[in-house]
Amino acid sequence: MKNQTILFFAVCIICVLCYRCTNANTPLVDSAFDNAMYGGYTNDTAWGQHLVTILGCGDCHTPKKVTAQGPVDDSSLLLSGHPSQAPVPQLMPDQVAKGLAATNDLTAWIGPWGRSYGANLTPDSTGIGSWSKEQFINAIRKAKFKGLDNERPLMPPMPANSFRNLTDAELSAIFTYLKTIKPIHNIVPDYQPPMANK
Ligand code: HEC
Repeated sequence: MKNQTILFFAVCIICVLCYRCTNANTPLVDSAFDNAMYGGYTNDTAWGQHLVTILGCGDCHTPKKVTAQGPVDDSSLLLSGHPSQAPVPQLMPDQVAKGLAATNDLTAWIGPWGRSYGANLTPDSTGIGSWSKEQFINAIRKAKFKGLDNERPLMPPMPANSFRNLTDAELSAIFTYLKTIKPIHNIVPDYQPPMANK
């Protein structure tokens, strides 16, 4: 019985010591709150970069270099959209009626909706340079071109149905990050409705 009592107190002391050790470096309540706000990152820009990376925005918005291993992002043209000078194959509507076609850098798409081109998301005047955060949130939430209510809907393959579920805080972080990347002057061609496939 005596041994059991000693063991009990020893376990209690170890528990107290462990608790104190593990909590010695616990961040202040404010830091923990900040981390929660930034998805575990130290600021909005880093969180935004993380979101843009994992959501694959570059898949359709960054021109690629075509390598033996397949297309890889051209980091010098990060998120600058379909290059204005890049030719897009002319396809007849019946060639894409049952499916869709894309350039090998995935920045230009042809399908039953017509032709669409990955937009310039850099903070240049030809991208989102003059956009407000509200405009950006509107563009993703309501799938509206330029984020303006009186504009046309955004066309496929922009994943509007899934991205409209991003929270205000997530969209705000993405916008903050996009405003920090290199501005690239690139006028992306206008969307063309199906008749223009000819
Ligand atoms: C599968 C391809 C694809 C992916 C992935 C994608 N986009 Fe897009 N996005 C497009 C296309 C194509 C357009 C142009 C649609 C149009 O012109 O109607 C577009 C348009 C936009 C626009 C509107 C630009 C304007 O001038 O109105 C914004 C903003 C945008 N994308 C942001 C994003 C962000 C942020 C991500 C990642 C979270 C993303 N996109 C991921 C294909 C994609």
